Amino acid sequence: MPQNPKFCPNARQKQPDTQLLQGNKRRYTSTILLNYHPRGGSSTTDQGEMENKGLLQSKELYQYILNTSVYPRESEFLKELRDATADYPGALMGTAPDAGQLMTLLLGLVNAKKTIEIGVFTGYSLLLTALAIPDDGKITAIDVSRKAYDDIGLPIIQKAGVEHKIDFVESVALPVLDKLLENAENEGTIDFAYVDADKVNYWNYHEKLLKLLRIGGVVVYDNTLWGGSVAKTDESLVPEPYRASRRHSIEFNKLIAADSRIRLSQVPVGDGSTISRLEDKPCLKESGM
Ligand SMILES: C[S@@+](CC[C@H](N)C(=O)[O-])C[C@H]1O[C@@H](n2cnc3c(N)ncnc32)[C@H](O)[C@@H]1O
Repeated sequence: MPQNPKFCPNARQKQPDTQLLQGNKRRYTSTILLNYHPRGGSSTTDQGEMENKGLLQSKELYQYILNTSVYPRESEFLKELRDATADYPGALMGTAPDAGQLMTLLLGLVNAKKTIEIGVFTGYSLLLTALAIPDDGKITAIDVSRKAYDDIGLPIIQKAGVEHKIDFVESVALPVLDKLLENAENEGTIDFAYVDADKVNYWNYHEKLLKLLRIGGVVVYDNTLWGGSVAKTDESLVPEPYRASRRHSIEFNKLIAADSRIRLSQVPVGDGSTISRLEDKPCLKESGM
């Protein structure tokens, strides 16, 4: 395991000797991995400050954004879910609140009613989606495991009165999208999708989601800057467990940037979000990006 102190894009000032990071399917004991964790998540320090593990390198500025624009507008249910997730194994996987706020804005901009979410974990992004869409809206929420959702998110989602909008499918995501596509009536019906799992398959998700999306529909892909590692020219500086996903992210970013079916913006919130919108005609340089 490389222990190169140079490779620590989200390094904390003070580092414990060892910390345990538990993901649903991963368990690493490594200071560098925890410090590196390429997640746009955030956690709270002993002083009650939000610690930025996103790409924005100024801690003060990140705190300012949260205090000024994000927290005052965050629903009490989202805050409760975020607080409840903080001590849960793999807490860093949760969507960062500033990235979540951007998603809420996008959901509103496209008048989203029918959505798909890939990667639920404890349900922060799922709850914000359920709160943003109308009462008769529907979210197909897919995760290989519903344990974290049942443990943390579901009781809060029930309290918020939005459970009826959620169809939780416990499965790997690709076959679920294939199943939806077996029914031609599903094509062109989705307003919004959020992809936050399984980097290896981002391009496969993209191809399938574009078929399910209506013209003008939006897909947000999370973690597309993978802790900033996509820009590292020397891969040996990237901790080994993150290299495969780094390569997949680089490949995905290249492919999606060249895809004329969509407009896109690469936004450096959290761990990097790629926002893409399905166009009705090829979107070429001549039409202004
Ligand atoms: C980064 S977390 C999602 C975080 C979530 N969006 C939130 O706001 O808290 C990724 C989740 O994807 C799930 N996952 C991993 N591989 C998957 C796959 N192939 N299909 C569906 N879900 C998967 C994991 O179980 C995990 O809960």
